[in-house]
Amino acid sequence: MTIEIPFSALLEQLPKQFFASLVAKVGAKIKAGCDVINLGQGNPDQPTPKHIVEAVQRAAANPKYHRYSPFQGYSFLKEAIAAFYAREYGVKIDPAREVAILFGGKAGLVELPLCLVNPGDVVLVPDPGYPDYWSGIALARARMEMMPLLAENGFLPDYEAIPASVADQAKLMFLNYPNNPTGATATKEFFAETVAFAGKYGVAVVHDFAYGAIGFDGRKPVSFLEADGAKDVGVEIYTFSKTYNMAGWRVAFAVGNERIIQALELLQDHLYVSLFGAVQEAAAAALLGPQDCVTELVALYEARRNAFIAALCEIGWEAPAPSGSFFAWLPVPKGLSSAEFADVLLERAHVAVAPGIGFGAHGEGYVRVGLLTDEARLREAVERIGRLGLFEKIFEK
Ligand SMILES: Cc1ncc(COP(=O)(O)O)c(C=O)c1O
Repeated sequence: MTIEIPFSALLEQLPKQFFASLVAKVGAKIKAGCDVINLGQGNPDQPTPKHIVEAVQRAAANPKYHRYSPFQGYSFLKEAIAAFYAREYGVKIDPAREVAILFGGKAGLVELPLCLVNPGDVVLVPDPGYPDYWSGIALARARMEMMPLLAENGFLPDYEAIPASVADQAKLMFLNYPNNPTGATATKEFFAETVAFAGKYGVAVVHDFAYGAIGFDGRKPVSFLEADGAKDVGVEIYTFSKTYNMAGWRVAFAVGNERIIQALELLQDHLYVSLFGAVQEAAAAALLGPQDCVTELVALYEARRNAFIAALCEIGWEAPAPSGSFFAWLPVPKGLSSAEFADVLLERAHVAVAPGIGFGAHGEGYVRVGLLTDEARLREAVERIGRLGLFEKIFEK
């Protein structure tokens, strides 16, 4: 007899995955034989650089790595991470106490609310923002308070606009620059303001630096840890997924505040044994090896960005060029919601984009495009959209 197996209340209250329906719609179109240009996702299209692949191939043959890894990861990787932060950002990190190795940034971001907040506590979240922040908050049964990211503020939160009653209750805050989905970047001054706000209200800061390597027009994105006092209030999450095209490898790390790192290590001691040692060895090779692959990748994304924004301009779709990340955040023509507009583009142009509403209420009015296909395909997407003639009719000039 098959028994009834209800899911736990915890699972039942997880947020619904907004983008699952988009993935299904795109899948159905492709199955129906349409040539869909999918700009709706954030999956890097380039391969992992050869020297990193070779490093894992060599390391995979080492029997040392066929045994369990040390619980909290290999010290050689933590030392490589400290060397990387010193070299790239001039930030001094104690590899033994200020680094935790993660199974991808997503895992760390979901673990952090479990480590740091109690049911009912307030967590400040950017809106629009990366939906995985919501997952950890839901698992911790905490309460989200949204920080609107508005174009007029350069898509940075306005701390003055957060009521003191909310700030007083907040225990944790998520930030992410270069930003998904808006493509905005932060300044050192903004991070200094963040440290002051966090210190005033006792809020732990998690800066998600997933797109840390991807800044355009010769501007290198700023690390949160470059701000004075940042380590007193928070951590930064850095993933190999975007910098080194290693999204499938599941490797990332947290750096910064010793107490938060300790909390992550404690939770992870209960959840896993650390990553496959060969992956850790290759990750260290990525951080310490030649970095021309990163420079070339950023140049590739910048060329795509330039081609895409220029093509948009030709069809009358005026959009600002992102200053970092590999996303463009585009205003939706007047009279359509972001979901309706995304449906029109998929149905009539066979171009998939992500509706802004999926990133939060303040994402309404925008769609997100991932610059994760070659320039010719990006231009073709814009040409197809241009043929719909939507922009002459709908955009108010
Ligand atoms: C803003 C942001 N943070 C974190 C991640 C997670 O990266 P990963 O889990 O691959 O390290 C992503 C991936 O798309 C992202 O866009």
